[in-house]
Amino acid sequence: MTPALEITGLSVSYGGARAVDDVSLTLRGGQVVALLGANGAGKSSLLRAVIGLVPVVAGRLVVNGRDLAKLPPEQRADAGLGYVPEGRRVFAGLTVRENIEVVVDAAARQRAGRVADMLALFPDLAAKSTERAWRLSGGQQQMLAIARALARRPRVLLLDEPSLGLAPQVAATVFARLRAIADDGVAVLLAEQNAARALAIADEAVVLAHGRIALAGAAKTMSADDDALMALLA
Ligand SMILES: Nc1ncnc2c1ncn2[C@@H]1O[C@H](COP(=O)(O)OP(=O)(O)O)[C@@H](O)[C@H]1O
Ligand SMILES: [Mg+2]
Repeated sequence: MTPALEITGLSVSYGGARAVDDVSLTLRGGQVVALLGANGAGKSSLLRAVIGLVPVVAGRLVVNGRDLAKLPPEQRADAGLGYVPEGRRVFAGLTVRENIEVVVDAAARQRAGRVADMLALFPDLAAKSTERAWRLSGGQQQMLAIARALARRPRVLLLDEPSLGLAPQVAATVFARLRAIADDGVAVLLAEQNAARALAIADEAVVLAHGRIALAGAAKTMSADDDALMALLA
C-alpha cells in the first residue's frame, strides 16, 4: 500500500541554526505516530515544514504518492494534509458551525453535509453548534480545531501538542478521539510533550533530540518511565 505520508531527509534551518536535521519517517493510513522530544527538539518545526509554513533546506515530502514539497500550504491541504496548530487557533468570534464551514471549499449543500458529519462525530460540539468559539472550554476548542481540520477529509492529520493546557481527563478524551480517527483510516502524526499519553494511543514513536531522530520504534516497546527515553525528553 502507498504510504499516506513519506518524509525523506527533511531539514529545516532558521538562519544558520538547524532545527530539523535529516529526518525521515513514513506513516500509513490507520496509524498513529507519536512525535516526541524535549522542548526545542524540533517537533513543531517538522510539522510546520510538512504543512509548508516554514521552508525546508532539503527533503522530499510525498503524500499519497504525490510530491508536495514545492506546493504552498493551501495546496498541500487540498492534497490531503490536515494540520491542527499548537494553541488550537479556532476563530474565536465565529460559531462552532461557522468555524467548520469556512474551511470547506465546496458547494453549499456539500458544505452543510460536511458540517453535519463533523457535528455527528463530535457530540460535544453538536450541542454548541451556534455558540461562538471563545465561549467553549479548552477541550471543546481542541475538538473544534480537530473537527475543522478533519472537515477537509485529510489522509494525514498533523497535530501540535493537542493536550497542552487541558485537564488530564479532557486530554484523555481528545486522545481517545484521535485513536478513533486513525482507526477510520487517517494517518495521524502527533507531536506531544506528554509522552505517556501519546504512547498509549500510538502505534509507533519517533523521538527527536536537537532536530535529529534519536530513537524510533513500536510504541509498545517504549515506556514513558524508561530512563533512556526520559533523558531524551528532559
Ligand atoms: N521562528 C523561529 N525562528 C528561529 N528559531 C526558531 C523558530 N522556531 C523555532 N526555533 C528554534 O528551533 C528549534 C526547534 O524548535 P521547535 O520546532 O519549536 O521545537 P519543539 O516544537 O520540539 O519544542 C529550537 O531551538 C527553537 O528555538
Ligand atoms: Mg512545539
